[in-house]
Amino acid sequence: MKIRKITCIGAGYVGGPTMSVIAQKNLNVKVTVVDLNQARIDAWNDADLSKLPVYEPGLDSVVAEARGRNLFFSTDVEKAIDEADMIFISVNTPTKTYGKGKGQAADLKFIELCARQIAAVATSDKIVVEKSTLPVRTAEALKSILDNTGNGVNFHILSNPEFLAEGTAVEDLHAPDRVLIGGENQEAIQALVDVYAAWVPTERILTTNLWSSELSKLVANAFLAQRVSSINSISELCEITGANVDEVSRAIGHDSRIGSKFLKASVGFGGSCFQKDILNLVYIARSYNLAAVADYWEQVIILNDHQKTRFAENIIKTLYNTVNGKNIAFLGWAFKKDTNDTRESAAIYVADHLLDEEANVIVYDPKVPAEQIYKDLDYLGTRTPEENRRLVKVVNDPYEALADAHAAAILTEWDEFKDYDWSRIKESMKKPSFVFDGRKLLNSAQLQDLGFVYYAIGE
Ligand code: NAI
Repeated sequence: MKIRKITCIGAGYVGGPTMSVIAQKNLNVKVTVVDLNQARIDAWNDADLSKLPVYEPGLDSVVAEARGRNLFFSTDVEKAIDEADMIFISVNTPTKTYGKGKGQAADLKFIELCARQIAAVATSDKIVVEKSTLPVRTAEALKSILDNTGNGVNFHILSNPEFLAEGTAVEDLHAPDRVLIGGENQEAIQALVDVYAAWVPTERILTTNLWSSELSKLVANAFLAQRVSSINSISELCEITGANVDEVSRAIGHDSRIGSKFLKASVGFGGSCFQKDILNLVYIARSYNLAAVADYWEQVIILNDHQKTRFAENIIKTLYNTVNGKNIAFLGWAFKKDTNDTRESAAIYVADHLLDEEANVIVYDPKVPAEQIYKDLDYLGTRTPEENRRLVKVVNDPYEALADAHAAAILTEWDEFKDYDWSRIKESMKKPSFVFDGRKLLNSAQLQDLGFVYYAIGE
């Protein structure tokens, strides 16, 4: 089976970059990415590539190469479904905010809507690919909806979870550690293998049954997040024992069984996936009455919340137990560097904590606009939008954020923060000038020489 037309439903952080690379590497396949969100599609189509809705290094040149040739962005979902041989579902699967499983289970309403729409529109056989991260056995539900509401055409379901990391999405897509494809129908599996084999070495394309593939994505994220929480738990122990968490990471990371990656202590992990996917794993385990398994993984989230709280509380305690009316400059709001994504960013929760204590928070982030920052805080519902706007100021110049600040807090590891004129910053800040480095980004000796009171996680 040769795929000629691919449609992807969902033009977000996954659908956009993934399909751009598939189109870039498969000149003979027409790839259409559709979304209900007109503004998002307009931004994907913007002639000015700096306006793409997803910021990822290198993405602009991939889009420039393929867009209009064999890559299209549209809001005409029905047409795109009808003409496709293969349909990727790459819509959001957030944590449920209501009803059974509230706060833990994945909300599958967007997935179900896609399935119903595909079934209603399709007049020829389709391969439907789960690209979104889904609870194990979702394919069963999808198949039931497709078969029972469709027009008698055949649907083959594949699971093809995405392992890209935001900030390095294009690099990860160009040279993935592995591509995972789960399915039951060999012909359908082979059709998707062929799409990836256009640029991915075949030994890196793994095929499994549907359930292993669905579950592996949740497990991969759980293992990654667990490493972060593990080293973060040790960071607290380092702070009271005189050990240095970077030295501990280096020492244990040299053990080839442990490995050196993902052992950097920080203010806590963020992003749209880790927390949501672990909560989902916990929920699934509980739903099968596996209490010990659920408790084990839930601890990763508990520790992460603790790390964010601990960072905020250390700021308050160090600033003589009050931040009321004090200016705290936030460097960074994105959940990690090289992305404009702020979902579940530690910055949001640290700010919320400080705002409870009536601090003035001044935020500078090179890629996140002010509206997004206010939206993130408003979404918490802790205080009114007016209060958030009164207490939080967003600026476009880091030196402006830091002028007259009682303390600087580094929340995102943007490289540019390292190159600032910290001597000039020292002059402009209130004395004593505190820096709380939630990313262990700056050179502690240099800052201390300049006269800063410098705190880094795990030191
Ligand atoms: P996103 O929120 O950026 O994008 C999802 C898009 O789907 C939105 O633009 C939304 O308007 C659209 N959408 C929702 N329902 C629709 C419908 N019925 N018809 C058309 N469009 C619809 O989400 P993101 O980050 O791209 O994530 C998508 C999935 O990929 C999630 O399941 C996520 O867990 C998973 N994932 C995300 C990764 C990431 O780094 N963001 C990495 C790997 C997997």
